[in-house]
Amino acid sequence: MNKKITIIIILIAAIIAVIAVTGKNAVGLLKAEGYIEYTVDEAVELAHRKCAQCHSIDKTAKYCMRCGPPFVVVVHNMRTLISQLKGKKAGLKEIRNGEAAAITQVWNALVGNWENTWREEDLLKLLEKDEPLIKLMNTPVQKRKIETALKGKSAGGSDMMIMKPVK
Ligand code: HEC
Repeated sequence: MNKKITIIIILIAAIIAVIAVTGKNAVGLLKAEGYIEYTVDEAVELAHRKCAQCHSIDKTAKYCMRCGPPFVVVVHNMRTLISQLKGKKAGLKEIRNGEAAAITQVWNALVGNWENTWREEDLLKLLEKDEPLIKLMNTPVQKRKIETALKGKSAGGSDMMIMKPVK
């Protein structure tokens, strides 16, 4: 009986130790994969970090409705570019599913969201089965937490207020 209890206590201690060590990483991974939502601050930081890997943030900040497809498609295209450059560009970090959805919302809010000026079939085609981004496209803006939280904090030139300095 005592032996059993000892074993149970050791097991519980081991589980707690594993959670303590991996907990933070595990949450980070769950967020990256889209199982847990990023906080607004985390999303803003992520968008600046991941989108400044190849060109300056200026390219994103100055992007506009006349320039091309909405950010869901841009983010999808950048994911494709990253996968093509994988192994060729040192230190290049991929944009995971949860990250893609969070980053898209940030740029939609800070720069602009013109998804509704495009035909849904066209967007769907351009998204090339990018599941997390198709899911985001099908989520009404009011239900996108990060995008709604950041909206209004930005408009035209004042976008730059919330943006971090261009690196
Ligand atoms: C792998 C390197 C790389 C990363 C990472 C990257 N970009 Fe780009 N981006 C490019 C290249 C190369 C171009 C120019 C070629 C093109 O337009 O397809 C470009 C072009 C753009 C354009 C202009 C597109 C147009 O049609 O004028 C925007 C906007 C943009 N990127 C935004 C982003 C955003 C937002 C992110 C983060 C999600 C990002 N980029 C991450 C390489 C990258």
